[in-house]
Amino acid sequence: MKIVIAGGAGRIGSRISKALDDQGYSVVVASPRHGIDALTGLGLAEAFAGADVVIDTMNLPPAIPYSEAESFFGTATTNLLRAGEAAGVKHHLLLSVVGVDRVNSHYFRGKQRQEQLVRDHGGPFSIVRSTSVLEALSGSVLTDPELAAPRVPNLTLQPVAARDLARVVARTVAAAPRRGLIEVAGPETLSLPEVATRMMRATDDLRHVVVDHTAEYLGTVFEPGDTVLLPDLRVGSTSVDEWLVRLPA
Ligand SMILES: NC(=O)c1ccc[n+]([C@@H]2O[C@H](COP(=O)([O-])OP(=O)(O)OC[C@H]3O[C@@H](n4cnc5c(N)ncnc54)[C@H](OP(=O)(O)O)[C@@H]3O)[C@@H](O)[C@H]2O)c1
Repeated sequence: MKIVIAGGAGRIGSRISKALDDQGYSVVVASPRHGIDALTGLGLAEAFAGADVVIDTMNLPPAIPYSEAESFFGTATTNLLRAGEAAGVKHHLLLSVVGVDRVNSHYFRGKQRQEQLVRDHGGPFSIVRSTSVLEALSGSVLTDPELAAPRVPNLTLQPVAARDLARVVARTVAAAPRRGLIEVAGPETLSLPEVATRMMRATDDLRHVVVDHTAEYLGTVFEPGDTVLLPDLRVGSTSVDEWLVRLPA
């Protein structure tokens, strides 16, 4: 089976690419550094020839400001879907963000637009929404080791390891298209300052994290303690046996 991974050289895409490669799939990484550009369409037709599945893990490149996210995701996703249709792709899998429809910002509206295009394109699809990956948090928190005190917003998150997310995506590829959503999250609910502090202590970085309610996350200022980026599932506590014990005799 041939799988094209748009953004397959990125933080998450590269792990998905490795997971699928290890499982024996024929993987083509489609990203600008590989001469394939979803925004301009450069190289898409050649990359997509004979493809069965497309996985979209593209992200807004650093050179494009958040204010242009809607236009970036709109144009690039439309180009991927058109190339997929022309090549007879049987499954379009989009990587999106948990809480995407609860945040009104350029970046999240861009991701909403991307999801809508995928839902409406008429072909088989799956949308995997993930919480923040630990690798992205460690990147953003520890980017500037020169800062006297890293400033982070007081967001509540349930971060996931990129390799766990990659495994879910690989399993989704192997299954029939979901024609709907799957949400992925890590096992712990934590504040971003707590995650940042733990990451820094693990590298003997003794700086103190400053909680800054004006600091942006993905180009947005969130409310202090905001939980909009947590997954929606709530799990009850009563097991089958506990429920049976309470049944009237
Ligand atoms: N990071 C997170 O915590 C997180 C959580 C949930 C969902 N997501 C979603 O996952 C996706 C990937 O995130 P990430 O953190 O892995 O991003 P990333 O590390 O910034 O990687 C982005 C990838 O997109 C590629 N790209 C940029 N412009 C492109 C274009 N015009 N055509 C084709 N490819 C292009 C880049 O290509 P080059 O390498 O060639 O520059 C890169 O490979 C995003 O859509 C994001 O919303 C991320």
